[in-house]
Amino acid sequence: MSSQHPPPKEKPVHILVVGAGAIGCFYASRLHHKILTILRQPSKNIYVSLVCRSNYSIVARSGVQMKTRTFGDYTFTPAAAYPSIPAAASSSSAPKDGWDYIFVTTKALPDIVDDAAEIEPLVRKGPDGKSCIVLIQNGVGVEEPHRKRFPNNPLVSVVTIVSAEQISQGVVRQNRWTRTSLGPYSDGLGGRTAEGKELARRGQACTDDVVDLLTRYGGIRDAESYDEIGMQQVRWHKVCINAANNPSSVLSGGRGSANMVMDPDLRLHLKGCMEEVFEAAEHVLGEPFPAKLAKPERILTSTERNTDGRPSMLVDWIHGRPMELEVILGNPVRIARERGYEMKRLQTLYALLKSAQKMRKESTEQDAKRQNGAKL
Ligand SMILES: NC(=O)c1ccc[n+]([C@@H]2O[C@H](COP(=O)([O-])OP(=O)(O)OC[C@H]3O[C@@H](n4cnc5c(N)ncnc54)[C@H](OP(=O)(O)O)[C@@H]3O)[C@@H](O)[C@H]2O)c1
Repeated sequence: MSSQHPPPKEKPVHILVVGAGAIGCFYASRLHHKILTILRQPSKNIYVSLVCRSNYSIVARSGVQMKTRTFGDYTFTPAAAYPSIPAAASSSSAPKDGWDYIFVTTKALPDIVDDAAEIEPLVRKGPDGKSCIVLIQNGVGVEEPHRKRFPNNPLVSVVTIVSAEQISQGVVRQNRWTRTSLGPYSDGLGGRTAEGKELARRGQACTDDVVDLLTRYGGIRDAESYDEIGMQQVRWHKVCINAANNPSSVLSGGRGSANMVMDPDLRLHLKGCMEEVFEAAEHVLGEPFPAKLAKPERILTSTERNTDGRPSMLVDWIHGRPMELEVILGNPVRIARERGYEMKRLQTLYALLKSAQKMRKESTEQDAKRQNGAKL
């Protein structure tokens, strides 16, 4: 069947995307189909709504302007835009039977905000656990707080390597094509009890459904479905790149990824970090990475070509925003330690960068106090 013209879904599918930034708008806009004005419903029966924050008024007024390398430029008008999670939860336009899928596409900052607690009013729980939570975030260990809070709901874990950014409020640019990897999450190891196995089975069914939505209805060619262990391997493998490049670019004085790998001492350091993640992942998941996942030397060689790439942590550091330190460094170190493996290099990066962030926050707060005092 042509991916251009899939038939409308028999039953309506209600998707709520929490976090209308680069990633949220990119995936939401691919799943959304134009509203048919006569029937007042989306042509494919897929309703995609957005929970915004600072960009709410512009998105509510004029939608999201998408500038994509792959699909061209277009305006995405969601089924509904909400200014906050409580507003979405209490809205009369929310689906009566709850959202089928809740995509979480905020930055993963568990040291600042508990995403699972935040989205709780949106999640239909109960024995049938109707709402499936889809996490499109970097790092490892992002699923566990959701699993604890929503023990019966299926979880889909997603890793994306799209490169996208919100260049101004309500304007999102996709710079590079994406590969999207999806898999279920029960307990991180594929379900060790009968209940866990059942959750993994339901998560796998949701995973396959979201892959179908993305590929046939969203035109995203390389969305791939994994089993639970396979998906965790993809997550740890992405951490291998993120945990090496992201903190090192900040701590090396603001160097881009390609620039770092051309420096012999930094290259050695990055390779050491990547090898450490390879070993840790084997301890945690019980098996080595499959051969198809690139080894450190190959990752370093391909990074040489990424001359305009600036790791997201560096961009966040430059703008004084919180960095995704816990999910990219803290969680891997802690999870590996629980399995008896000490990640010495990552632990060092984690301690240094966490301290740098704390010191900078304190000094910014002191400056603000001084300025306020001067004004009084
Ligand atoms: N961008 C990429 O190319 C890329 C690639 C791979 C993976 N990722 C990962 O994908 C995740 C999302 O990244 P991103 O680049 O899309 O970040 P982003 O552009 O900063 O988007 C996050 C959005 O979430 C919103 N938000 C945060 N808390 C919210 C809340 N409580 N209610 C409503 N909205 C809320 C933010 O609003 P405000 O603007 O008001 O803060 C922002 O619009 C991260 O884990 C990132 O590492 C990103």
